[in-house]
Amino acid sequence: MEYVHYSVMKDEVKQYLIPPTDKPSVMVDCTTGEGGHTNMMLSEYPQLKVYGLDCDTHIQEKAKNRMKEFGERFVPVHTWFDDYFDDYQGEPIDLVLFDLGISIFHYTESERGFSFKKEENLDMRLNDESPLTASMVVNSYSEEDLANIIYKYGEERYSRRIARAICEKRIEKDIEKSSELEDIIFKAVPATYKHGRIHPATRSFQALRIEVNKELDRIEPALRGAVKALRPGGRIAIITFHSLEDRIVKWTFKDLAKACSCPPEQPRCTCGGKAAIKILTKKPIIATDKETKMNPPSRSAKLRIIEKR
Ligand SMILES: C[S@@+](CC[C@H](N)C(=O)[O-])C[C@H]1O[C@@H](n2cnc3c(N)ncnc32)[C@H](O)[C@@H]1O
Repeated sequence: MEYVHYSVMKDEVKQYLIPPTDKPSVMVDCTTGEGGHTNMMLSEYPQLKVYGLDCDTHIQEKAKNRMKEFGERFVPVHTWFDDYFDDYQGEPIDLVLFDLGISIFHYTESERGFSFKKEENLDMRLNDESPLTASMVVNSYSEEDLANIIYKYGEERYSRRIARAICEKRIEKDIEKSSELEDIIFKAVPATYKHGRIHPATRSFQALRIEVNKELDRIEPALRGAVKALRPGGRIAIITFHSLEDRIVKWTFKDLAKACSCPPEQPRCTCGGKAAIKILTKKPIIATDKETKMNPPSRSAKLRIIEKR
């Protein structure tokens, strides 16, 4: 079986996620994908057991195959990561890793319309059990809702033009294929935008994927749940790939690192609150020049780490 995803910032993850050596320890890889990070951790630490979460059963088959040699030390779990930590009752966790977004597998092998370079059905669901597909969003949302999603989740400055073009086109027939949508977007944007640094459909495709999988809504509850599930001294590392994700992570960590939860207008603290976490990375860690040369997508990666108090 071929593994196509290049795991980002492996050295930095390894530097911060160190399990206790004197007892069996537990890690949760919230976004196992093909298992690049998990494989590294299981190979490095023989006392470690990893619960490998993924919402996508197809990519999870690849991880299961890759991790066979570790036997019961790898436990695959098919779930959304926020659902996993919702009312978590399992054993205390030493380490948690999030490597957000999708894998190269999704673009190149999944055949679900993630790539605008291919002619595939506009599905974009990471989880087969989800009710909403990209085709449903494109063909049934109002022009205003489409524009808002493309603007908010894609940070696309031509969101209104693109939404209008989609709505005009879908009067003739439903837009079913990724290549059809790419063509509509390409024709909708101004000439100067057509040959920029990124393809003009990149941001709209990202927005659709985020909407279909509710990607941003899942981050804060998962982080709060993971902090609760950690043993004291346990760590969370999270890698984000765009500012929308990183902003949520940054503010959630800031809030959890605050000792006092009294209302800001109250002059003196009466809650006696204690900070739940310590932030270990005041600024996010970014990939080295060497890594970005070898794997250009790592250019947008940001790694933040916290420790539970
Ligand atoms: C960037 S890839 C992970 C790559 C992995 N760290 C590696 O080294 O091979 C992200 C994976 O997380 C999964 N995923 C994304 N959002 C998720 C969520 N909310 N819950 C569970 N899995 C998720 C995707 O299906 C994908 O397989």
